[in-house]
Amino acid sequence: MRGDISRRSVVLALAGAAIGAPAIIGASRHAAAAFSLELAPPLRSHSRTSGIKFGCAGAAPSVQRDRILLEKIATEGDIFVPESSLKWDQTEPRPGEFDFAEGDSIAAFAARNDMLVHGHTLVWYAAIPPWVSQLTTSGEARAALERHIATEVSRYRGRIWAWDVVNEPIEPADRLDGGYRNSVWLRCLGIAYVDLAFRLARATDPQVPLSLNEYGIEYATEAAGRKRQALLALLRKLRDQNTPIDCLGLQSHLDCSQTFDRAGLTAFLQNVVKLGYRLMITELDVNDVKIRGNDAERDRAVARHVAEYLDIVFSMERPLSIATWGLSDRYTWLRQYYKRADGTALRPLPLDTGLDRKPMWAELARFVSP
Ligand code: XIL
Repeated sequence: MRGDISRRSVVLALAGAAIGAPAIIGASRHAAAAFSLELAPPLRSHSRTSGIKFGCAGAAPSVQRDRILLEKIATEGDIFVPESSLKWDQTEPRPGEFDFAEGDSIAAFAARNDMLVHGHTLVWYAAIPPWVSQLTTSGEARAALERHIATEVSRYRGRIWAWDVVNEPIEPADRLDGGYRNSVWLRCLGIAYVDLAFRLARATDPQVPLSLNEYGIEYATEAAGRKRQALLALLRKLRDQNTPIDCLGLQSHLDCSQTFDRAGLTAFLQNVVKLGYRLMITELDVNDVKIRGNDAERDRAVARHVAEYLDIVFSMERPLSIATWGLSDRYTWLRQYYKRADGTALRPLPLDTGLDRKPMWAELARFVSP
């Protein structure tokens, strides 16, 4: 195991330091830092005192062969986010035919490990089966939403930490009124689908926090500015209609070659908080596809970027939870879309491929500890 190697190198480096070899003194500092990182309490250990839960997305234990990764997920997190298992194409592949095999395996794993499940996600433009993308009338769409939401939300009532009810409703690049994303739901029901989905979820589970989840709002780009504006307008409209929605989920798929719009993002979050929404960080990862350097340099750049981001969010409000989209660089969805010029794998997550804690982990620990 890598942990043993770091421990051994501490001993060797300390021995070297004792005889005064300067290169080894540097190595000893590095190894000692890695060593103390491994000894620090897990991220979930702070949630009772800080009120901030930690978790990560992953595959269902019924299909996950990497048992050691699963163990780490339960060690570090008190929420489990199904990366795909609760999406519509998995749970209702044919009208009225439900399949909760993976969802149930996650719920059972969570219960065994004293974790809760983050419900991801009920209504999205993507990961829908063909029969849903072929809906054409408002009546059909409403009936589909009613059955789907009632069935899924009631099945996991009491075991869900929060539900991402509507995922990614904004996309100004689609050039529709309000910056709304073109989706089967919007085409059949207009933007009223968002209010309807939240009301259906609330009617089925009066207790669980309900969230709207969105990405692409962090940087100093025109696209991010337009997205913040459209998202804020939608959140305002939902408040005016008394839509039962509690939180804004900040997906937080970051890219450390980009520059935050600190002022723009702060003002946006301030407005969101003023409207009475709580914040959750739901899908944090940091794309390092364009960052030059060796592993250690890249890991430091990723950690700095996370710290800068969390500093902006926390200066507005402490989020209810932080979830990363995956836990270890061993598996990240980004790998299928981004390849580095130097051919090495991306390093976007808190643990490296050997499951050792990285500087990003240390930044998360700093923010989730009370
Ligand atoms: C991604 C999964 O990680 C991939 O494995 C899958 O192929 C596509 O979906 N925003 C979301 C998540 O809300 O559901 C997406 O998950 C990543 C972007």
